[in-house]
Amino acid sequence: MLSSSTEMITVKNISKYYERKIALSSLSFSINKGELVALIGPSGAGKTTLLNTLATIVKPDEGFLTITGIPFEKLTNRKLLAKKIGIIRQQFDLVGQLSVIHNVLAGRLADWGLFKSLLSLLLPQEKEAALKALERVGLSDKKLEQTAKLSGGEQQRVALARLLLQKPEIILADEPVASLDPARAEDILSMLTTLVKEENQTLVTSLHSVEYARKYFTRIIAIKNGQVFFDLPVHEVSDSLLAHLYQLKEQSDHDES
Ligand SMILES: Nc1ncnc2c1ncn2[C@@H]1O[C@H](COP(=O)(O)OP(=O)(O)O)[C@@H](O)[C@H]1O
Ligand SMILES: [Mg+2]
Repeated sequence: MLSSSTEMITVKNISKYYERKIALSSLSFSINKGELVALIGPSGAGKTTLLNTLATIVKPDEGFLTITGIPFEKLTNRKLLAKKIGIIRQQFDLVGQLSVIHNVLAGRLADWGLFKSLLSLLLPQEKEAALKALERVGLSDKKLEQTAKLSGGEQQRVALARLLLQKPEIILADEPVASLDPARAEDILSMLTTLVKEENQTLVTSLHSVEYARKYFTRIIAIKNGQVFFDLPVHEVSDSLLAHLYQLKEQSDHDES
């Protein structure tokens, strides 16, 4: 059955304040299954806060949010959450001392009891699935290496393999390629978006580079001053809109709203 119009993320008028600062200001949008959404916008626009809200790490002060139809307040179960949401960070979140394959197997941790998790460090379970995931990201030959010894690009591939095991419905990534050189960055983005399409997942990624957003994503949500500045299919994003997005704030905007 085609499910291309299933709403995976619904955000209605969410706001988040830090002291007197407004990080998110009455944001609304919805994201359907299979969409590849790039979040762009100047530094401090609210991209990280928004992604952390979608990941249920940050609680909005106002508004409401559902993930696969489940309201924010109900998304407290770690196991359930891991089935819904996978996260990729700039800093990879890998355990450097552990071997590559153990880091990949950690993608299953939320599914296992603590005992099994610890046991897996000695006797890898679901090793087959982990090996297959490593093969898909082109790291079969590095499976037993210490993760810390891998390059940044390779470590990000390990993070992708771990997501392949976790199999979340939604993947959230905050500047996943910010610490990589351009060739490595394109390699990871191309791999990430290909895997997401193959697995029929939904992807929301913040990016510094508009060029990458245009090349690999289907939709761009631009954030400025905690608000949606534009939300368009990638082919409708014009250079003049982008120029406006990154334009420095006028003096008259200062401290308003
Ligand atoms: N934990 C925090 N405490 C106080 N202010 C914060 C915190 N996190 C973010 N902010 C502020 O919220 C705004 C949005 O930040 P952020 O979401 O990190 O933007 P972006 O990721 O687009 O650069 C910024 O003004 C930032 O200074
Ligand atoms: Mg950020």
